[in-house]
Amino acid sequence: MLYFDKEHRIHTLESREMVQWKLDLSNADYSQAVTGIGGDRTQILSDGESFFVLPKEALKTSKSSEIPQAELEEIQSFFFSQEAVQAALSVNSDLLKSQDKGSLTYGTTGAKSIYEALRRVGASTDDSFLDIGCGCGLPVLIASKLVGQARGVDIVPSMVEFGQRAATRFGRENTEFLLANIRHLELGRVDIVYVAATTLTEELRETIKEKLSQLRPGAVVITLTYSFQSDALVLVDTFKSPFAWWGSSEPSVHDFLIHIRRAS
Ligand SMILES: C[S@@+](CC[C@H](N)C(=O)[O-])C[C@H]1O[C@@H](n2cnc3c(N)ncnc32)[C@H](O)[C@@H]1O
Repeated sequence: MLYFDKEHRIHTLESREMVQWKLDLSNADYSQAVTGIGGDRTQILSDGESFFVLPKEALKTSKSSEIPQAELEEIQSFFFSQEAVQAALSVNSDLLKSQDKGSLTYGTTGAKSIYEALRRVGASTDDSFLDIGCGCGLPVLIASKLVGQARGVDIVPSMVEFGQRAATRFGRENTEFLLANIRHLELGRVDIVYVAATTLTEELRETIKEKLSQLRPGAVVITLTYSFQSDALVLVDTFKSPFAWWGSSEPSVHDFLIHIRRAS
């Protein structure tokens, strides 16, 4: 369970400390019940659907470890090298023709941006991370420094191979890159999902949204540009950050959107 306070800082909570409490909508007097349970020693939290009560001392601040600035810059420059550009542009023409127009366009999330997103959600070594449409893999490499297991999936072989080389270069053994079409992907058990959705078609975004509904309650979904809010996902936070497209000198500013899988 994650709790965002008014300053948009995130706190992770020990679920065993919480008492889950569902609103009885047939009870017209429920607002009184909320006040009654709250008091000053407990906090009422909501994941968008269910309500939870827990002792205030059980609130914990983000557990993310820190990545030094120099390391962020080193990883970023590796992914902006000529070799990375080459890998990103080496898309086989048959593959290009078989996919929706524009969906294989490549751009890279900045190291600082994905780092900020992961710290906001309190990413820790207890978590697993998956980048759906991972490109050359910069977000996966950054995540691998914070989480227990980081994976990326992309349909372009040269990008997946570049990601694997990057993992070796930076000695990230908890990192995996898979060659797969998102449409045939089984998400499995994952705690934090990233989708840089800027170039993905509406149809592909809908397919991904459906897959995200398989996530466990409380799982986090970070998206770029488009909200993936649905019956299964509630949007809880947004922030703006630069996103660099190949060939453009200045990164453009995009919205990062943070969602949580509702309790079912
Ligand atoms: C804008 S790039 C984002 C790269 C990376 N996530 C990042 O933020 O740095 C989008 C990626 O989605 C991949 N992609 C598009 N359609 C896909 C599909 N059907 N299956 C797997 N990957 C796909 C593209 O090849 C491209 O690398």
